[in-house]
Amino acid sequence: MTISEPIILGLEGTAHTAGVAVIQGKQILLNESSTYFPPQGGIHPREAANYLAKQFPKLIEKIFQNLPFKADKIDGIAFSQGPGLGPCLRTTATVARAVSLKLNKPLLGVNHCVAHVELGRTITPANDPIVLYVSGGNTQLITFLNGRYRVLGETLDIAIGNALDTLGREMNLPHPGGPHIEKQAQRGKDLLQLPYTIKGMSFSFSGMVTAAKKLIANHSISDVCYSFQEYTFAILAEATERALSCTKKGSVLLTGGVAANAHLQNIIKEVANEQDSSYYVVPRNLAGDNGVMIAFAGTHLLNSGDILPIQKSQVKPRWRTDQVKVRWIP
Ligand code: ATP
Ligand code: FE2
Repeated sequence: MTISEPIILGLEGTAHTAGVAVIQGKQILLNESSTYFPPQGGIHPREAANYLAKQFPKLIEKIFQNLPFKADKIDGIAFSQGPGLGPCLRTTATVARAVSLKLNKPLLGVNHCVAHVELGRTITPANDPIVLYVSGGNTQLITFLNGRYRVLGETLDIAIGNALDTLGREMNLPHPGGPHIEKQAQRGKDLLQLPYTIKGMSFSFSGMVTAAKKLIANHSISDVCYSFQEYTFAILAEATERALSCTKKGSVLLTGGVAANAHLQNIIKEVANEQDSSYYVVPRNLAGDNGVMIAFAGTHLLNSGDILPIQKSQVKPRWRTDQVKVRWIP
């Protein structure tokens, strides 16, 4: 008799996106999400949390109406326990506890960054890659070593997505700025000079945003966008290349919201070629935050007996990638 893979409900809610999904093994059975776009400026944590509180009941109802089996077949409730915005995390944790109690199924506390990695390991052939995780809140080079995902390099201030969104706001582009900057950059011709801020394996972007803002007055938006992408992506490429070269891991996985950027994809693909390594990227529709990635990571937690008692389910807004004990990889 073969034991069937567990069925996991995944709840994502670290910042702007309420995501609810049901998976079994590597199969995505249902996936719903809803993303908050602030009317102006950046994301206000309390407003985003209010948005999540309104969206989760609707999304969960839709998922349960479409379940191809009875809800008691669900084996575990995975939720994004951190890192993220405190009010958003608390809202999501409250929803997860309620569903867990109602269905009497175990709660699984997932690290959001690890979930981005596990999504890539599940839906691409990448097994033990160098991970370039690029999003609005995080920018890290990650790889597995001795029971944990180690951070080989990371941003010392703001994330690449945050940098793109901040610059986008200065240029009156809609939020989030990342995809709009990508479009503008395609029309750029002149490479304008910016600082190149890499420090060992780590990097920083906030000074580059300040420098780019100063260029807006005298240059076209498309040239500023083009130059900003070229400089920041070159920094990410340099650190990724060094990580591949030093570790000889033989593959690279691009994940997180900014992984949707086609130009960054091409650059990292080239780096992988140069290093005789395989290149993988998560598909655009799953690059940003979603419930699927939380459910995939939750499967590993359940399979390794890592169940979270409700009384220990406080959220962890600053939970680092390298603090998670990865018991599911031998
Ligand atoms: P995390 O909590 O992992 O930091 P997040 O809250 O930033 O995640 P994601 O959905 O993973 O959420 O990433 C959103 C970011 O991705 C935004 O900064 C957005 O500008 C950026 N982004 C989305 N599409 C593109 C694109 N095509 N080019 C560049 N950036 C993009
Ligand atoms: Fe994310």
